[in-house]
Amino acid sequence: LTVQTNKLKFNFKQKYMFPLHRGRRLRTNESIRSLVRETSLSPSDFMFPMFIAEGENYNVEIASMPGIFRRSIDLTVKEIHELFALGIRAVNIYVKVSENLKDNTGLEAWNPNGLMQNAIRAIKAACPEMIVMPDVALDPYSIYGHDGIITNGDVENDATNDALVKMAVSHAQAGADFVAPSDMMDGRVLRLREGLDAAGFHNVGIMSYSAKYASAFYGPFRDALDSAPVDATEIPKDKKTYQMDYANRIEAIKEALWDVEEGADMVMVKPGIAYLDIVREVKNAVNVPVTVYHVSGEYAMIKAAAERGWLDHDKIMMEQLMCIKRAGASLISTYFAKEAAILLNK
Ligand code: PBG
Repeated sequence: LTVQTNKLKFNFKQKYMFPLHRGRRLRTNESIRSLVRETSLSPSDFMFPMFIAEGENYNVEIASMPGIFRRSIDLTVKEIHELFALGIRAVNIYVKVSENLKDNTGLEAWNPNGLMQNAIRAIKAACPEMIVMPDVALDPYSIYGHDGIITNGDVENDATNDALVKMAVSHAQAGADFVAPSDMMDGRVLRLREGLDAAGFHNVGIMSYSAKYASAFYGPFRDALDSAPVDATEIPKDKKTYQMDYANRIEAIKEALWDVEEGADMVMVKPGIAYLDIVREVKNAVNVPVTVYHVSGEYAMIKAAAERGWLDHDKIMMEQLMCIKRAGASLISTYFAKEAAILLNK
């Protein structure tokens, strides 16, 4: 065999065996593949997002998220024990509050006996080792479905931060291990850190949704909490004045670095699969754990395709989770946490 490169003639047969490289040696069988696998998944890589509702013995499946339920606190606590037994060590908590508790100030968000605060207390009492990370943002409490207070036709940054501090401190008082601001206000991580410290909660951590994109992948989540921005002329019809433009990459690094500087213990990139380039770049830029939110729409897509028999559910699920980890995630917030943990424990 003779190859002509840059006018130099090499005779491969004389000089080398052909082919020069046999990458397939390391793929010969599953044992060898397992020896050289670069990334692994375990149940403790997952955080499970949970939707809490008022009432007792209440359990309603979310139409666009088969297998995911809105549950009252008593049934949520039951599920917490299941999750812990599977090896899952963290949950993200979201609440669906009734319409009459919503306003434009977020008042209910720091009610010491609110749904979120009661849920945190109940979970920590039942399973102290489960790490509880309540969501910090005003959307479930907002008559407008926005993450903050609306003033003059937009979400007002600094007034919203004041509200978020009260909210986060009330979560810490209820026993939260971390607070997870998902609101994308500027400067909120610093404000939360100062507020938590001033209230004596030095050990309560902050997992910041740092690079959170304005994404259509959140649709099913907004169904679950009935929290979509309302359609009214005096307010923004989407969240693009605070969540990031999905065309942007450098901005994600900027946001993550700011949050680390302001005191975030972990940063998050959200959504997951379509944003793995961002995950890797943020991972390379920061010195704190990077978490990824594999969001509701990503879950719904897999469920829908699997229901039609178009994709292999379990294989796609594990491939996506592994690829998120490979991209640089230390933790993955995913609605698949339970199903994936069951598979991994087999
Ligand atoms: C609200 C919040 C959202 C999600 C997490 N926290 C929705 C939004 O920003 O509109 C989305 C999560 C998902 O889609 O799974 N602050």
